Amino acid sequence: MSDLDPAKRLAARAAAELVTSGMSVGLGSGSTASLVVRELAERIRLEGLQIVGAATSAATAELARAEGVPLREFDELESLDINLDGADEIDTQFRMIKGRGGALLREKIVVTAARRRVTIVTAEKRVGRLGSRMPLPVEVSSFGLRHTERALRALGAQAELRRNPDSTLFLTDGANPILDCRFASIDDPAALDQRLRRVAGVFETGLFLGLCDLLIVGHADRVERIENPSRLR
Ligand code: A5P
Repeated sequence: MSDLDPAKRLAARAAAELVTSGMSVGLGSGSTASLVVRELAERIRLEGLQIVGAATSAATAELARAEGVPLREFDELESLDINLDGADEIDTQFRMIKGRGGALLREKIVVTAARRRVTIVTAEKRVGRLGSRMPLPVEVSSFGLRHTERALRALGAQAELRRNPDSTLFLTDGANPILDCRFASIDDPAALDQRLRRVAGVFETGLFLGLCDLLIVGHADRVERIENPSRLR
């Protein structure tokens, strides 16, 4: 089971070690980010680490509260010192697809406010081309859903409305549906992102471009830390 994956755990621990007392920390969503929250909680208990977290989803907020990680409303914080989050895919130019867990909109809002953006993955998530492992999640308005879906299809997407395992409609924390979009090939992620954003009814795409300064890759017995050379600051 993935939460027990030693590679993921090692990577999560390495990410949590980047945090120092006094920091405001963006807390991502998904299984990797959950492990990071647990690692931070352990440091709070054992070392007295003092931080405030801003959660990117209701699930992360709930976990943080249960683990004793202090939270602040994101809007109460001017900016964040660091953001720690997972990703579904990341390419050699540090461009990512996120949103398999459905938290893409809040994740993007939060990461954008952080001074240092850290992505934590296991090795299989590194891809040569985005979209090769999974479709691109696009968060859309439920009003006019069919119209938005048609517009995305016209852009070449094979769009599938995301459903829960019991086949009810999946809705994000903001109560919006997600269209999972497959493209024959994502050759130019920035251009695709712009085209998708121009569609009325699209709230956010799972393309996270220019939002990773440091990539932490977990392996079974070690962790790789790869700085984004274009983002060193
Ligand atoms: C949540 O919506 C996503 O963006 C997650 O960050 C991403 O899906 C990675 O999740 P895992 O760590 O569970 O693979």
